[in-house]
Amino acid sequence: MGEYIGFSTILVIFLLSLSANAEVFKVSSSSGSDITQALLKAFKSACQSPSASHVVIPKGEFKLGEIELMGPCKAPIEITLQGTVKADGNTKHGRERWVVFSRINGFKLNGGGIFDGEGNAAWRVNNCHKTFECKKLPISIRFDFVTEAEIRDITTLDSKNFHINVLGAKNMTFTNVKVIAPAESPNTDGIHLGRSDGVKILNSRISTGDDCISVGDGMKNLHVEGVVCGPGHGISVGSLGRYGHEQDVSGITVVNCTLQETDNGLRIKTWPSAACATTASGIHFENIILKNVSNPILIDQEYCPWNQCNKNKPSTIKLVDIKFKNIRGTSGNKDAVKLLCSKGHPCQNVEIGNINIAYKGADGPATFQCSNVKPKLVGTQNPKACSAPVVKTH
Ligand SMILES: *[C@@H]1O[C@H](CO)[C@@H](O)[C@H](O)[C@H]1NC(C)=O
Ligand SMILES: *[C@@H]1O[C@H](CO)[C@@H](O)[C@H](O)[C@H]1NC(C)=O
Ligand SMILES: *[C@@H]1O[C@H](CO)[C@@H](O)[C@H](O)[C@H]1NC(C)=O
Repeated sequence: MGEYIGFSTILVIFLLSLSANAEVFKVSSSSGSDITQALLKAFKSACQSPSASHVVIPKGEFKLGEIELMGPCKAPIEITLQGTVKADGNTKHGRERWVVFSRINGFKLNGGGIFDGEGNAAWRVNNCHKTFECKKLPISIRFDFVTEAEIRDITTLDSKNFHINVLGAKNMTFTNVKVIAPAESPNTDGIHLGRSDGVKILNSRISTGDDCISVGDGMKNLHVEGVVCGPGHGISVGSLGRYGHEQDVSGITVVNCTLQETDNGLRIKTWPSAACATTASGIHFENIILKNVSNPILIDQEYCPWNQCNKNKPSTIKLVDIKFKNIRGTSGNKDAVKLLCSKGHPCQNVEIGNINIAYKGADGPATFQCSNVKPKLVGTQNPKACSAPVVKTH
């Protein structure tokens, strides 16, 4: 025991001296001022530092315009946001970006601070939930091609569009991230990820107006654990197959999460008559608690939100090795489980284990619908698997 304490003490001193050695670039501005140029300058200097560097934005409230903090940098870089940075409330942007971190290898973002997207006015003009070609509004935080990254203890508030977008990341972990926007804010996905490999989202709290977490094409090895979602539209893989040149999805694990008061729970959605023929495989949802969640379990291979697709052409996206295990709680509507797979490519190797979902409404009890799928059943099934006729709601 004594030896163990001795070792960790030495370790702590070693780490302290490491961070003491990191060159520190403090963004020192008076509260209320615009720090866009100061932050850009501090980041550029830090990025050129041959040894590890640290950029600190102190406590206080600052204005921040559109900014891209771009590597590659010469050594690992840490950004600590202690205060709040605020976007402007302008809705005329036309660019889907506010703060962009790009091409940095060895990156930390932390500090307990807040990215406030000031989305209120933008939500009134955001029409992305209504139409295919919609107004482009800033995504609050983009991570483009960031590798070996650790994002911890930050909050994103009231984004105009998605809160966080991850593209081309490798080995990235989000821990204790808070996402906050009202339930009625449109298109404010919490964390959207695509074309990345090895991302973890741990112990985070997401309350927003669209998907808490949405997974796009090309995502591999995503692990989500200890996330509480709601309000919001749940955790979603897809939509897949809207565009050509999409890539396969594989290895998506969602465990020990709670969904509360969400529209949709655990969803996989693909477009009919898809423009590409990809496979989404190894998608496992396990140990999930539902509190009054509408459509708690949903595979929808006829996803077509604006009725602009040919539904007679079945989806060409293959769904393989899909597991829903230990899912329990309450549904907000009768359609508790719907597994609606493609006629052209029935879902393969689907396992449903220990499902216990209650629905208390007058039109109850809860139902379980299946088409083009023969799930392997393990343990309890409540409602009874595939017992209800398929009701097309499209
Ligand atoms: C990601 O992590 C794995 C395992 O630690 C490592 O082998 C791989 O090189 C890392 N990839 C990048 C791009 O850092
Ligand atoms: C999830 O929670 C259970 C019960 O609290 C725990 O045993 C398990 O290690 C946790 N993590 C995973 C990945 O299942
Ligand atoms: C469940 O959610 C619905 C909205 O989807 C709401 O109308 C209803 O009051 C909620 N029920 C409970 C018991 O909280």
